[in-house]
Amino acid sequence: MAAHQRLMNMMFGTICSQVVGTAARLGLADHLGDNELDHRELAELTDTHPGALARLLRALAALEIVIETHPGTFRLGAAGLPLRTDRPDSQAAAVLLFTDPALLDSWKLTEEAVRTGQPTFAGLYGTDFFSFLATKPELSERFNATMRQVSLPIAQLIPVSYDFTRYHTVIDIGGGDGTLLAQILHGARASHGVVFDSPTGVAEASATLTAAGVADRCRITAGDFFSAVPQGGDLYVLKNILHDWDDERCVTILEQCHKAMPAGGRLLIVESVLPDAVDTANPAPYLTDISMLVNMGGQERTRNEYETLCRRAGFEVTAVHPTVLPTSYSLIEATPV
Ligand SMILES: C[S@@+](CC[C@H](N)C(=O)[O-])C[C@H]1O[C@@H](n2cnc3c(N)ncnc32)[C@H](O)[C@@H]1O
Repeated sequence: MAAHQRLMNMMFGTICSQVVGTAARLGLADHLGDNELDHRELAELTDTHPGALARLLRALAALEIVIETHPGTFRLGAAGLPLRTDRPDSQAAAVLLFTDPALLDSWKLTEEAVRTGQPTFAGLYGTDFFSFLATKPELSERFNATMRQVSLPIAQLIPVSYDFTRYHTVIDIGGGDGTLLAQILHGARASHGVVFDSPTGVAEASATLTAAGVADRCRITAGDFFSAVPQGGDLYVLKNILHDWDDERCVTILEQCHKAMPAGGRLLIVESVLPDAVDTANPAPYLTDISMLVNMGGQERTRNEYETLCRRAGFEVTAVHPTVLPTSYSLIEATPV
């Protein structure tokens, strides 16, 4: 594609995101289900202006989210199926969260974040992202559902890439609704587990672990990983935790794990590890890195940067296992020194 066209497509990314977010907010995918509907019927169902909805549907057809079967009549396309809320691979909560008007304000200040190196989210709301979530139960529930949706495909791969059966107690720090621990314990049938997260973070964990049939081997503990984490695990997992925080906060979390761990315990950091040179084949982690800058004050890191964090907290990295998919996720194994 010509360079100027690629640039224009990137610039139009905001419009694509609003088109898809609006489709999700109107519940178009659920209304369409397995059927094809005329835009006037859909306008009635969604309480929208028929002419404007026809234009939205046309834009969605151009993006292959829907297919125009006859002029003005639409059914879901392959890329639109995950917008349905009734599918196991639904991404609807993620689309709603990432296009939530309340969370877009910090993006308007991206230039400021680049100038100052500080997250604009905290400047706008006077608190960090997770403290903000703790005061917004509905948004927090949506965040947990988003993490479940985006984490499930990776969580399913992790036990294929790493042998958990050798551990008696796996403690998932910042384990959210237990999606990853459920997958680990499903494969490691003699192991036990603890999901540790903030009170709002673990709100949905009981339902997930029960549905996965592993609740009898699990404990759910709420707390603050900057103050203390549960003791006595022989494996501490941190998936998508360290990328949320700056180096100082990461070292504190790692030190808490170090303190709680028995001699011979291990740490497993699961993150999207940046290669030393930019990989143009996989832009996703570089874009989440900017999201971390703007919203969280964290960052994506290279293997060397994770090794440095580990050393500062008294750990030595002993192995790095890439996951089996073509993702940039790696499992960084470390032991206390
Ligand atoms: C990006 S999510 C990752 C969730 C899960 N590990 C996954 O990969 O799907 C970060 C998690 O850290 C939790 N968290 C944030 N601050 C925390 C704190 N101070 N103490 C414990 N958990 C916290 C959040 O509630 C959230 O579940």
